Amino acid sequence: MPVIVVVGTQWGDEGKGKIVDMLTEKVDIVARYQGGANAGHTIVVKGEEYILHLIPSGILHKGKMCVVGNGVVIDPKQLLDEARELEERGFETKGALFISNRAHLIMPYHKLLDKAAENQTLAKKIGTTGRGIGPAYSDKASRIGLRVGDLFRPEEFRKKLIRAVEQKNSILKHLYGTDDVANVDEIYNEYMEYADKLREYVADCGTILRKALKAGKTALAEGAQGTMLDIDHGTYPFVTSSSACSGGACAGLGVAPNSITEVIGIMKAYTTRVGEGPFPTELEDAMGEKLRSEGGEFGATTGRPRRCGWLDTVVGRYAVEINGVTGIALTKLDVLDDFDEIKICVAYDVDGKRVETIPSEGDVLERVTPVYETLPGWKSKTAGASKWEDLPQKAKDYIARVEELIGAKATIVSTGQSRDATIVRNV
Ligand code: GDP
Ligand code: IMO
Ligand code: MG
Repeated sequence: MPVIVVVGTQWGDEGKGKIVDMLTEKVDIVARYQGGANAGHTIVVKGEEYILHLIPSGILHKGKMCVVGNGVVIDPKQLLDEARELEERGFETKGALFISNRAHLIMPYHKLLDKAAENQTLAKKIGTTGRGIGPAYSDKASRIGLRVGDLFRPEEFRKKLIRAVEQKNSILKHLYGTDDVANVDEIYNEYMEYADKLREYVADCGTILRKALKAGKTALAEGAQGTMLDIDHGTYPFVTSSSACSGGACAGLGVAPNSITEVIGIMKAYTTRVGEGPFPTELEDAMGEKLRSEGGEFGATTGRPRRCGWLDTVVGRYAVEINGVTGIALTKLDVLDDFDEIKICVAYDVDGKRVETIPSEGDVLERVTPVYETLPGWKSKTAGASKWEDLPQKAKDYIARVEELIGAKATIVSTGQSRDATIVRNV
């Protein structure tokens, strides 16, 4: 009954989509456990690119069950558009895709509130994806959210909608001073149309998953975002609003902690971040620009240029510990092929003191100075490599040093976007 969790170890966009797609071959089920359409998971198969926001990255394999768990917040229009696009490109979603009836719905007013909060001058801008994620999780915690299952009980749905719209419009008008408000009838009609189309996908996914695991099936729990964007363990308040760490997989799918047998931490060979917030190893110079252009670092969801910097092993070690990482998938090694020197952050200097853990106060993390170790670049091509023996010695040395610093082995090394540009190691 094993569950393998795939989790981001940095600030998202580590290459989770590629690794989930690759690992799907060895499991029966792939299930998303948190986040929403703020995620953008890119998969390249036979030169064709697919960007998935809500549907699990296992969908490109025939015969696999794909689950959108109760911990995800679902934008029904986005989900249906994504499903239609996949169908048009030859992938079956009917009979393969299962959506939890307990998952919360993203409503139009969540997007209005997301936008209004970001435009507010008093609070700090988070740089959200504008997908309504924070407001939807706020409603879930405040117990006034609407769930997927409510779509199939129209009277209940309408009652809950009236209550929520009343409250949201009051906030939009009186707190944010905007005339852009929600309308009950419009939303009701729109969502009842979605209900018709979603019906065939909706199920009690927790029960299905537990039954499947009991029967000996294997599942892969696909995380979105990453450890440093986790609501509890990330760089609060510059985080997303869900539990992106591996611990979130149990709550977000309805499976027991002792069903988890493996945790694969996805770690980019350098660091990126989208949106605001502290980022100790950020390079705001030509080197950062080079990482961005060599790595194609532009957001898969919003198209924003990603902030880039060297690998931070203080973050890496923290992620290994919090998530219980059993093996790392080190991605985008090939992006470093043309650097004379490669730096690794091994600690922080905080007011003259060496610190090897993440300070909980954002303003402290904002002003730390990274302590770097410098390694020679390998200046040769690793791009496309699929065998460990084919890597230059200096690249192997870089990986060995990273492993030592973070306390986990790189069981997978990724050297390109495609499925075959991957090295699987027995370590
Ligand atoms: P995710 O959100 O964690 O799934 O990552 P994204 O899809 O947002 O961003 C990762 C990007 O890097 C995607 O465009 C991937 O196709 C690409 N990618 C993944 N692994 C590799 C790799 O090893 N080398 C290169 N060059 N690109 C990769
Ligand atoms: P994947 O799954 C990178 C960031 C946003 C913003 C913060 C809060 O592709 O790795 P939100 O819209 O969630 O309220 O925004 O989190 N963010 C991501 N950054 N990758 C993601 O997902 C992200 N999802 C959210 O940029 O800083
Ligand atoms: Mg992404």
